[in-house]
Amino acid sequence: MRGILYYDTKYGTTEKISRWISAEVSVGKVEMRNIYDGIIDMDCDFYILGCPIYIGKPRTGMYQFIAEHKAHMKHTPIFLFIVSWAQSTQYHQECNRFLDLMEYYLKPAEPVLSVSLPGSLVLDNLTGRDYNALTRLLGRIDKLSDEFQAKEIEFVDNTDEKESREFGKAINNWLQHSYHMF
Ligand SMILES: Cc1cc2nc3c(=O)[nH]c(=O)nc-3n(C[C@H](O)[C@H](O)[C@H](O)COP(=O)(O)O)c2cc1C
Repeated sequence: MRGILYYDTKYGTTEKISRWISAEVSVGKVEMRNIYDGIIDMDCDFYILGCPIYIGKPRTGMYQFIAEHKAHMKHTPIFLFIVSWAQSTQYHQECNRFLDLMEYYLKPAEPVLSVSLPGSLVLDNLTGRDYNALTRLLGRIDKLSDEFQAKEIEFVDNTDEKESREFGKAINNWLQHSYHMF
């Protein structure tokens, strides 16, 4: 059994999480591919899609990837994860909206499992352009919400290896049960 994990990433967090997830899928081999590598292979038994959230939506590259390839994917199990800063905060409910968006992009294909995982946001690593975009975004949210305090945000690596690996285990269990592999 062979699966392909296609991921989008700008600062490497989704790639790091992808490695943790892949390592837990023991029923078959998982090959990891960055969607920008240009090596597209749609001949596999399952897909895992990983996408970070930027400015309130899944990163555009993944949207384009899905639009181009979803016709090939619709009869094959798809497992989906998103990576965001919001997931590690009190605003994690917002991430359901990001998952809904990904599921909408995938239609008529439907993921069999999907999860929202906490990412990493370390300001020193950001390009000047991203730093400015983020500052504008936080300023906008600050104005909209009384509870939100941009100044109190901790910009750290909130990735959670255990939680990420749990998703890999859930994928493995699903495949095991669905294909009667023991
Ligand atoms: C410019 C910028 C905008 C972002 N916008 C959002 C956002 O709207 N919501 C959110 O929850 N996280 C947001 N994030 C946080 C990213 O989702 C997080 O840093 C993620 O770990 C990035 O993954 P990557 O390194 O794989 O690209 C943003 C990060 C940057 C740099």
